[in-house]
Amino acid sequence: MKNILVTGGAGFIGSHTCVELLNENYNIVILDNLSNSKEGAIERIKTITGKEVKFYKVDLMNLFETEKVFEENQIDAVIHFAGFKAVGESVQKPLEYYENNIGGTFNLIKAMKKYNVKNIVFSSSATVYGVNNKVPYTEDMPTSATNPYGYTKVMIEQILSDIAVSEPEWSIVALRYFNPIGAHESGLIGENPNGIPNNLVPYIAQVALGKLDALRVFGDDYATPDGTGVRDYIHVTDLAKGHLAALKYVEGNPGFQPINLGTGKGSSVLEVLHAYEKACGKELPYNVTPRRAGDIAESYAQTGLAKKLLNWEAKLDIEKMCQDSWNFTIKNPEGM
Ligand code: NAD
Ligand code: UFG
Repeated sequence: MKNILVTGGAGFIGSHTCVELLNENYNIVILDNLSNSKEGAIERIKTITGKEVKFYKVDLMNLFETEKVFEENQIDAVIHFAGFKAVGESVQKPLEYYENNIGGTFNLIKAMKKYNVKNIVFSSSATVYGVNNKVPYTEDMPTSATNPYGYTKVMIEQILSDIAVSEPEWSIVALRYFNPIGAHESGLIGENPNGIPNNLVPYIAQVALGKLDALRVFGDDYATPDGTGVRDYIHVTDLAKGHLAALKYVEGNPGFQPINLGTGKGSSVLEVLHAYEKACGKELPYNVTPRRAGDIAESYAQTGLAKKLLNWEAKLDIEKMCQDSWNFTIKNPEGM
């Protein structure tokens, strides 16, 4: 399997995965409507790798245009990143989220069926573990959600699993990402949120740049070692490499398989803040505020299945994640 269609390939995780794919001599076609990314990301992927990339500015909601991409290219497998991802926004705009994430996936599946492509790696999320499971999360736990974004992931996993039952020649992996942070070592690609960031590390990066005054630590009264929320942060380059391992897996393993991609190790908000202070060489102000609605105390992965099935494990630590985030941030103070 050498020819890979990457939906959402101009985005944060997609762009890093494209770099790793090109470094391993895959041929890639990127499909992205640039709703949450810029075409400059494609140029930067080419600069980092010195390789050519075929790019289609196409919306997955447009079935005709999506099918054309399959018509014009021989595709062996798809990595499907494209979708909306902001939890809070999904509560404000549920219809847009269901339509784009589920509708886009339907069109992609229809096009894949038409062109007889039956291998897919899907971007799922640790959010499918909901609020009732106990850490570390294992892939056999029941899934649930608390917001429309999370429901789109739960539902798409269900749809993909039903397809694998009805058509046993499909080979499907749903990668459940924990908290991807960091950036490519070159500082050319990274996370580029619009407006005030919702997520911890992009927010800290803006504080370190001096664009935001202080980090708001959302609660220090959780039942965790320092009272602040614990998450399983994973370097986006490690995550990207996990997709290459998943591609190899889908080649020989029909069926539907969810797999966690995390480090298995939790870090608290204050630990991340201190690692970032080390990376940027200055003290960063913070104040403790009430808990953020919907947050859980801790989330981290049981990583054994990824090791067993994919022979993959995360290698980079929280210090390196913060160094690479800061390197990207100072090189791109206004974003990409
Ligand atoms: P991102 O927003 O940077 O990338 C998604 C890309 O998809 C963007 O470039 C966007 O323009 C594109 N897109 C969206 N809708 C589209 C459509 N209808 N047609 C074509 N392109 C479309 O997000 P990311 O952080 O790279 O996340 C990638 C995937 O991983 C998403 O599915 C997300 O839900 C999932 N995920 C992300 C995280 C995270 O913390 N970043 C965690 C778990 C899961
Ligand atoms: N936090 C703060 N201050 C901030 C932002 C976050 O204290 O300004 C804390 C949160 O309370 C939490 C931790 O930092 O304890 C991480 O928060 P993020 O918003 O970075 O990440 P979440 O774990 O809440 O959510 C992320 C993605 C979701 C995804 C989930 C599970 O944003 O899309 O991981 O994969 F569903």
